Amino acid sequence: MQRQQGSVPRGAYHITPIFIGRGEGAVVEDVDGNQFLDFAGGLGCLNVGHLQPRVVEAIRRQTDRYLHGCMHVTPYDGYTRLAEALNARTPGRFAKKTLLVNSGAEAVENAVKIARSYTGRPAILCFQDAFHGRTLLGMSLTGKTHPYKVGFGPFAPEIYRMPYAYCYRCSYGLTYPSCKMHCAHQIEDVFKRIVEPESLAAVVVEPILGEGGFVVPPSEFFHVLTETCRPRGVLLIADEVQTGYGRTGALFACERFGFEPDLLVAGKSIAGGLPLASVTGRTEIMDAPVVGGLGGTFGGNPLACEAALAVLEAFDSENLVQRARHMGDLIEAKMKDWQERFPLIGEVRGLGAMRAFELVKDRQTREPAKEEAVTVIRGCYERGLIILYAGTYGNVIRVLVPLVATDEQIEEGLSVLEASLAAVSQTVTPQSSSSR
Ligand SMILES: Cc1ncc(COP(=O)(O)O)c(C=O)c1O
Repeated sequence: MQRQQGSVPRGAYHITPIFIGRGEGAVVEDVDGNQFLDFAGGLGCLNVGHLQPRVVEAIRRQTDRYLHGCMHVTPYDGYTRLAEALNARTPGRFAKKTLLVNSGAEAVENAVKIARSYTGRPAILCFQDAFHGRTLLGMSLTGKTHPYKVGFGPFAPEIYRMPYAYCYRCSYGLTYPSCKMHCAHQIEDVFKRIVEPESLAAVVVEPILGEGGFVVPPSEFFHVLTETCRPRGVLLIADEVQTGYGRTGALFACERFGFEPDLLVAGKSIAGGLPLASVTGRTEIMDAPVVGGLGGTFGGNPLACEAALAVLEAFDSENLVQRARHMGDLIEAKMKDWQERFPLIGEVRGLGAMRAFELVKDRQTREPAKEEAVTVIRGCYERGLIILYAGTYGNVIRVLVPLVATDEQIEEGLSVLEASLAAVSQTVTPQSSSSR
C-alpha cells in the first residue's frame, strides 16, 4: 500500500485497504489469504461472479487465436456476434446496431455524438444526482460536485439539468403519487425557460440512479419523458452501465419500466470483468455519423467480446435474471426488518438485486448520515464483507453482489452488515425514531 501511495496519484481512491489475490464467485481472497464476501463486485462489474468458468474458458480459447487486430484494420467475428446479440436482447423491437467501446464513460460520450449527429442539435438534458463517468463529457453530465467535478472545469457546454424523480428527497417537496409526477412534467418548463426542444439532441437518463444512490423512479417518470420528448424529436438515451445485465431482475432495467430508449448504453458487467461497453440503438440513428466518425483503437477488444458472449451464455444457463429477483427478495426482507429496528435507516429501496438503504441522522429532517455510512462500511470490511456506499450525500449503502452468490452467502453477508449496522446504531442517538 505504501508503494501504491508513492507511485499512484491520490485521486485514484480505494475503499478497502486490501490487495486482491484471487476471486471466485462471490468471494475475494486478499494477498494475505484473508477471505471476504464480495458485495461490491469490482464496482458492479461482476454480475456473473469472479472467474466465471465460461468466461475464463472463452478468454483462454481466444488467446490461442489473436489478442488484437483493431476492428478498424482487420474486423473479427466476435465483435459482430456480440453486436447481433445486443441488438436482439436490448429493449425495443426495431432494427438496431451496436458500437463497442472500452468504458462506460466512452459509451456515454459516443451515444451523445451519435444523437447530435442524427438530430443536428447540440444540447443535452441530464439529471441532478446522475453519474455518467469521469471524462470531460461524462463529468459534465454528472451531477455530484465532490469529488467528481471539483477543480476540473470548465465543463462541456450545452448541458442542461433537471431534478430526477428522487422521491425521498423530492426537489419540489412533494409526495408520490399525489405529486402526479410533477418533476417529470417540469420538462415542459425546461423547454420554455432553459433550453428550447429544437436545440435538444437527447435526454440522458439512468433508469435507476447508480452512484446517485440506487434511486428507483416511479415508472410514470419514463412515460412522461417519452411522451414529451418523442413528438419533439428529442432522443432518449438510457445509461444502463450500472443497471445493466440482470442486476434489476431483467437483463436491462428499462424493461422493468416498459421504457424503450432510442439509444441504450451498457458497460461494467457485460464482459465478466474485462473492459467493454456498448451503445445500441435504432439503426437509422446509429448510422448517422459519417464513415470513420466512430471507433477507437481498442474498442470491442476480441478477448472482451468473447468474454461478453460467454457472459450472456452464463446468464441463460444459470438463470441469473430470475436469480436477481430471488436475491432481491431476500435482501429487501432483511433491509425492511432493519428499518424497523434501526432508526438510522431512513429509506430502503431498490429493484431486483439492486438494493440499498439510506442512512439519516434524523428521520424527520432526513439529514444524511454520511460518517455513519462510512463507519458501517468499515465495520463490514473488518468483519469480512466488502460493500460500497453511494449517493450525492455519501450516505447510501448499496449491494452489488455477484448474482451467482448462494443464498447462504447472501445470508452471511447480510448478517455481517447487520452486525456492523447494530454496532454503529448503538453509538448514535437519533433525535426522532418514530416517524419514517
Ligand atoms: C450509470 C453509469 N454511467 C457511466 C459510468 C462510467 O463508467 P466507466 O467507469 O466504465 O467509465 C458509470 C460508472 O460507475 C455508471 O454507473
